[in-house]
Amino acid sequence: VITKIRARQILDSRGIPTVEVDLHTNKGMFRAAVPSGPSTSTGVHDVVELRDGDKGKYLGKGVSGVIKNINGKISEALIGMDPTLQTQIDQAIVDLDKTENKGELGANAMLAVSIAACKAGAAEKEVSLYKHVADLSGQTNLVLPIPAFTLISGGKHAGNNLAIQEIMIVPIGAVTFEEAMQIGSETYHHLKGVIFEKYGPTGCNVGDDGGLAPNISSFAEGLDLVMEAIDRTGYSGKIKMALDVAATNFCIGTKYDLDFKSPNKSGQNFKSAEDMIEMYTQLCRDYPIVSIEEPFDKDDWEHTKLFTNLRICQVVGDQLLMSNIKRIEKAIDESTCNALLLKVNQIGTITEAIQAVKMATDAHWGVVMSHRCGETEDSFIADLAVGMATGIIKAGAPCRGERIAKYNQLLRIEEELGDKAIFAGKNWRLP
Ligand code: PGA
Ligand code: ZN
Repeated sequence: VITKIRARQILDSRGIPTVEVDLHTNKGMFRAAVPSGPSTSTGVHDVVELRDGDKGKYLGKGVSGVIKNINGKISEALIGMDPTLQTQIDQAIVDLDKTENKGELGANAMLAVSIAACKAGAAEKEVSLYKHVADLSGQTNLVLPIPAFTLISGGKHAGNNLAIQEIMIVPIGAVTFEEAMQIGSETYHHLKGVIFEKYGPTGCNVGDDGGLAPNISSFAEGLDLVMEAIDRTGYSGKIKMALDVAATNFCIGTKYDLDFKSPNKSGQNFKSAEDMIEMYTQLCRDYPIVSIEEPFDKDDWEHTKLFTNLRICQVVGDQLLMSNIKRIEKAIDESTCNALLLKVNQIGTITEAIQAVKMATDAHWGVVMSHRCGETEDSFIADLAVGMATGIIKAGAPCRGERIAKYNQLLRIEEELGDKAIFAGKNWRLP
C-alpha cells in the first residue's frame, strides 16, 4: 500500500521549476517528475499548470503551492491505497479538485502523483513499467515506437530566424528500435557536419529539444540540409521526414508570418492559409514528408480540415487538441485532423491519457507520444509509449540528457523484451 507521499520543487531542462514526487510503498520509493511547456492554454476545459505567480521567486514560476497540495490533500486521500489500482487512484485525485480544468490542485500536481503511483503499481505486481501500462490500457502487444528525432529546431524553441519549430526524421525502414536510434544519431552527426561546412560553428548551436539551429529562414533550406545529411548516411531509403510547424506561434489574424522572429521584416513573408496549403503540398512533393503537426493556427479548424482531407500526409493536432478529450471528440466528429499529439501534462492522469489514446485509435487516428520543451530526466513516456502501443514517439534530438533519457529507456525495453519485442516500423500509424 501507499505509505507516504512527498513532493519537492526541482528544475526542468530550461531551468524552470517543476514538480517531483517520491511515493513510498512497502516495496520502496517511486519517483516521478512532470514536464512543462510554454503555457498557451486558452479554453475553459484545458487543464491548468499551477504556478505560484510570486514574481519575487523564479519570476513567478515557482510551484510551492502545488507541492503543498500534494503533501497535504492528495497525500491524505491516497495513503493506504493499493498502488496497482491506477483508475481508483486517479479518480480519487480528480475528485479532490472541484474544478473541471484541474485548476484547484493543478494538473502538474496530479500528473506527478499519477505517474509515481503507476511506477509503484508495476513494482507491486513485480512487472516492468511498460507491462503494467499495457495491462492498464488493455494492450496485449508491447510495441516499440518509431522515434521521430528533431534534427533542426526553430520556432519558439531556438534563437534563429526559422519559423517552423521542428524538422524531424522518422527512420521507418529500421527493423529494430536500436537500428532506428543508430540511424538517428548518425544522421544528426552528419547534419552537424553539413551545417558546420555551410554556416560555421555558430550554426551548430542547439535549441530546447536538442535540434541544431542554424540561422536559416525557409522551410526548404532546412529540409535540404537534412536531405544532404541523409545522403551522407547512406540510409536514404529508410528515412522519412516529419514536421512540427507549430503555426499557432506565428499566426497573426488570418496570416502566417514566416518572419516572426526577424527584427527587419519586409512583409513579404506574410502567407495566407491558402498559401500555406500550397507550400505544404509542394514540400510533400519535394521531400519524403509523412507527417505534419500543427500546420495552422490552433483555432483554424477549417484549414486544418481542408489540408487533412487532401490526404497528402498525416496531420497531427497539437494545440488544436491540447490532448483534451472534448477537443479530440470534436476533431474526430468533424474529421479535422487524423493524429493525436499526446502530451500527458495536458491531461493530468494516466487513466485519462489511456482514454484519450483509446478514443484516437478507435477512430483510426495515429498517436504520437510527445515530450515537452521543458523536460526532466524522468523517462516515463518511453514506457507509456510501449505499453499503450502509440507507434511513434517524439522526444527531441538524439542529443541532450533529458531527451536521451527517453530513447535510452526504449533501448533497455527492447533488450529486455528480446524476441518478444515488436518494433512499429512501417506500421507506425496503426501498430
Ligand atoms: P512544446 O513543444 O513543449 O513547446 O509545446 C512540443 C511540441 O510542440 O510538440
Ligand atoms: Zn507541437
